[in-house]
Amino acid sequence: MNKPLDGYVKRLTGMGAGESSLEVYEHWASGYEATMLDDYGYVAPRIAVDVFEALHGDRETPILDLGCGTGLVGVELASRGYRHVDGLDISRNMLAEAEAKAVYRDLLEGDMTGPLDLGSRQYAAAIGVGCFGNGHVGPSHLEEMIRTVDPGGVLVFYMNGIPFEDDDYPAHFKALDARGAWSVEILEQSNYMEALERPGWVMGARRTGG
Ligand SMILES: C[S@@+](CC[C@H](N)C(=O)[O-])C[C@H]1O[C@@H](n2cnc3c(N)ncnc32)[C@H](O)[C@@H]1O
Repeated sequence: MNKPLDGYVKRLTGMGAGESSLEVYEHWASGYEATMLDDYGYVAPRIAVDVFEALHGDRETPILDLGCGTGLVGVELASRGYRHVDGLDISRNMLAEAEAKAVYRDLLEGDMTGPLDLGSRQYAAAIGVGCFGNGHVGPSHLEEMIRTVDPGGVLVFYMNGIPFEDDDYPAHFKALDARGAWSVEILEQSNYMEALERPGWVMGARRTGG
């Protein structure tokens, strides 16, 4: 449990505010899983889908995987019988890897730091794993992500412990709760890489309002 951070993982972890991770993912896409699964023992998709399954047992409704990357969350959802999953990501090369998994109903190119154009698509639940932090998505984008699900719909996010603390996500989660945007049901810490200590947090909430 002491592998040092290196390569793209180190670069992404050290990103500053205002930087974009897009170029990194475009270059890394074909090697992402070898690094994350084989070198680091990445298990965040499994932890997040455990929580997702506890909050949203319905396998027949449409689900959105936000920041789907190469499709590890889609594979985990498919293995548990979720059959109508769309994936959204900013990186075309990551989406191409996801497409090859053949577990998504639809794959959408989109930037979560701006308004999302989902056409007429609306979801009963959404999940976003590993897409928060510098170079990725920030707390100010949570509201747009919440809008992707119907009232009563479930949202599950998994994020690294550094942005969780630095950007004070607990305060943002509470503020959205207080404003009636959602109701937080689960907030739990875990270690999401088996090869080192890499704390992260999973949050599960239900969209409120009509
Ligand atoms: C660490 S990867 C996680 C991928 C996948 N969810 C997983 O757990 O393996 C982060 C993903 O978020 C995507 N991403 C980063 N910023 C984004 C943005 N602004 N809009 C959409 N996707 C974004 C990246 O392209 C990348 O595929």
